[in-house]
Amino acid sequence: MPTTHGTVTDRERVAERLLAASHSHAFDPITDVDWDAPLLDGAYFLPAHRVSLYGTPTWERMSERQRIDLSRHEVASMASVGIWFEVVLMQLLIRHVYDRPLTSRHVQYAFMEIAEECRHSTMFGRLIDKLECPEYGPGPYAHMAARAMKTLGSGVQAFAMALIAEEVLDTMQREMMADESLQPITRQTARIHVIEEARHVRYARDEVTRGAPHMSRAERAITRLALARAAHIIATRLVHPGVYAAVGLDPAEAYKAARANPHRLDTLGHWSRRLIAFYDEHGLLGGPGRRLWRASGLMGRQI
Ligand SMILES: [Fe+2]
Ligand SMILES: [Fe+2]
Repeated sequence: MPTTHGTVTDRERVAERLLAASHSHAFDPITDVDWDAPLLDGAYFLPAHRVSLYGTPTWERMSERQRIDLSRHEVASMASVGIWFEVVLMQLLIRHVYDRPLTSRHVQYAFMEIAEECRHSTMFGRLIDKLECPEYGPGPYAHMAARAMKTLGSGVQAFAMALIAEEVLDTMQREMMADESLQPITRQTARIHVIEEARHVRYARDEVTRGAPHMSRAERAITRLALARAAHIIATRLVHPGVYAAVGLDPAEAYKAARANPHRLDTLGHWSRRLIAFYDEHGLLGGPGRRLWRASGLMGRQI
């Protein structure tokens, strides 16, 4: 039996294992989350030190109630960006299977992942409702920019791009699910997402590992730039300026303060550490996109 990385057999084996894991650890967001439980008074929705304004002079001036409210709106903002990104990913996956053997395990796992993303997006939609927040979304520019990506992106570029949101949200949500001081609703939804996304990360990483060594120089250069651009768009859209207005702050000023906040850079750097190491390992960093990576904040305080 071939064992070399990159064989069809190997790809099928990975898919087979992921399908088995999906079968034994699947969740239904309608019944597996306690949507009727009331929100706890005085509990944060996101760890305080991960809220975008944490540690700034503005944060020091805010009341505890305002800080908790800001954490609620930031979770809702990230959930709405999560839905947007999952919709993009679902289309990429549908396009990925279109040209492949439709009876393969590899394609069957793609179908499974799409089904899981459908349920996640439903879950995040319900979460936003439960938090009584608006649907913030990524904003019109990101909405339009992703239209080209989801229509044309493929191969290593598409799977590497999927990892930007999956790895960043995964690190964030692992901390949320473990923090017993947080609201149960955000811990429950984070836990479901972490368990199911671990498989998606494995699937995408495997495709990148398989394809990256075979990219041409031009393809690699284009991919690096596209990833840097996508990372910048995603990282700067996680927290919509409207969240600041919702808690009585000046949105433009607060957004600026958050962008310059060294604690925020530490948080973004922490959330993306695994992603950056993986990209680096596969030659997907560097080139002119480096400026965008730095501006995204995902490199932390690194300059
Ligand atoms: Fe998801
Ligand atoms: Fe996913």
